[in-house]
Amino acid sequence: MAEKTPRSHHDLLDELAAHRAKIEAGGGEKRVDIQHRKGKLTARERLTLLLDSGSFQEVDAYITHRHSDFGMAEKRHPGDSVITGFGKIHGRRVCVYAQDFTVLGGSFSEVQGQKVAKIMDMAMDAGVPVIGLNDSVGARIQEGVYSLAAYAELFWRNTQASGVIPQISVMLGPCAGGSVYSPGLTDFVLMTRGTSHMFITGPEVIKTVTREEVDLETLGGAMTHSAVSGVAHFTADDEPATLELTRKLLSYLPSNNAEPAPAVEPTDPAWRTDESLNTIIPTDPGTAYDMRDVIRTVADKDSFLEVHEHFAENAIVGFARLHGQVVGIVAQQPLVLAGVIDIDASDKMARFIRFCDAFNIPLITFVDSPGFLPGVNQEHSGIIRHGAKIVYAYSEATVPKLTVVTRKAYGGAYIVMASKYIRTDMVYAWPTAEIAVMGAEGAVSILHRKSPAQDAEGAEQREKLVAEFQEKFSKPYAAAASGHVDDVIAPAETRSKLIAALELLRDKQVSSPPKKHGNIPL
Ligand code: HXC
Repeated sequence: MAEKTPRSHHDLLDELAAHRAKIEAGGGEKRVDIQHRKGKLTARERLTLLLDSGSFQEVDAYITHRHSDFGMAEKRHPGDSVITGFGKIHGRRVCVYAQDFTVLGGSFSEVQGQKVAKIMDMAMDAGVPVIGLNDSVGARIQEGVYSLAAYAELFWRNTQASGVIPQISVMLGPCAGGSVYSPGLTDFVLMTRGTSHMFITGPEVIKTVTREEVDLETLGGAMTHSAVSGVAHFTADDEPATLELTRKLLSYLPSNNAEPAPAVEPTDPAWRTDESLNTIIPTDPGTAYDMRDVIRTVADKDSFLEVHEHFAENAIVGFARLHGQVVGIVAQQPLVLAGVIDIDASDKMARFIRFCDAFNIPLITFVDSPGFLPGVNQEHSGIIRHGAKIVYAYSEATVPKLTVVTRKAYGGAYIVMASKYIRTDMVYAWPTAEIAVMGAEGAVSILHRKSPAQDAEGAEQREKLVAEFQEKFSKPYAAAASGHVDDVIAPAETRSKLIAALELLRDKQVSSPPKKHGNIPL
């Protein structure tokens, strides 16, 4: 019998290289071409753009599925339908997974579930964010309950990781069923215009069940989810821009809930004043202004990153920096519906407040709101339980909380928007602040409903009453005199006031009553 020749190191490395080539081929040239023709990148190309150059370390590249029914024995690809691993973004560690649409449509299989679970467990152990690049048709039909169970594992892990490490979902293809539920559980969802879609059931199923006819873009395109459903927090024009935005978002987030958010060397002076703020509020209380101008002027130059820009535009939320430190901004937008608070605005603000609180990001609130939106539709759709989320979220938040009342803080809007006694550390008011149960006109109408002041001949008397209310409540001094407002400040000095207060509160410690968890109205 011929003696077995020992293999050379060279042969062994060649064998490894052949394996690597097979792994990197994904679902094969034909499917990669289709992916490119659809304007989409491959999972590996996406990872290259997302991560710092050369930092990606792959895990579980050889694993294959173990199913053989429905022709699955011939459909084994090393690594299956997802690439998992870890790497760096701006030098900071992250765990990642990228679904490979060229392998069985990126369908969620038993082994995709195992791989994603392992990388999420590593992210939790290491205390680093996890980023999912999603491009998947949903549960792998051929694997039946194995696929469904794998999804259940993922959803459980998303829930366990919530509030411990930031979880980001980047949507880069037609994502259906379970492949949208996991993103729905994560902190931030980014979508690519034109090529990413999210839906529980697609147009065909909808047509069968409800007879509604709808195209993919209208049903679950990027603008639908960023402007209508609120599922998506960010959109970008193409995949490179979406991945670049993901890198930018991460620069505001701490790696885990025990770390502060990453600070940068301040380049904008802390004591910078801006005289334009002194005249930004129109003298006519019915005229609007752009609250974004206020935020951008107060925050470090070019530091404002708006979240949920197109959803519930009557509210504004986003990250910014003050003297290099990350802060969460929550505000009304007087340009849209006069900054009134409705159901969508409530959900948008409450969720953002809770993210910031979970991840040690101080909250800065700018208030200009006439109150909650009146109307049968809002009442019947549950404005009571939705609006309650804002006050719940602010009340349970223990991070430093600072409020600036720029103009109207009427009724419920005054209370819920981080007022003093829901434990806001400092409440500042601009001289233009109006803190009252409601506007002067409304107050006179209610209090003097039956008096001649309502008649045409009572116009003069009514004017006098309105002026009396305005004198008392359309200025912040009554609220300041009773301690409901900590200081009345010149708008130009808002930045330095906020920075000084944040510095004081940097190590703020607050204890909450022991409980398993609260029961936020959902
Ligand atoms: C396995 C699937 C698949 C599935 C599609 N494929 N759906 N493989 N399981 N669920 C395969 C296709 O046969 C094809 O294989 C490849 O994936 C790409 O699919 P295409 O249809 O060619 O892609 P495209 O034209 O881009 O259309 C994408 C799509 C469509 C719109 C998503 O594939 C589709 O509607 N799929 C069904 C989606 C769905 O209902 N998923 C189950 C959800 S239920 P080849 O070999 O040709 O490349 C679920 C359970 C959990 O997820 C629910 C929790 C809420």
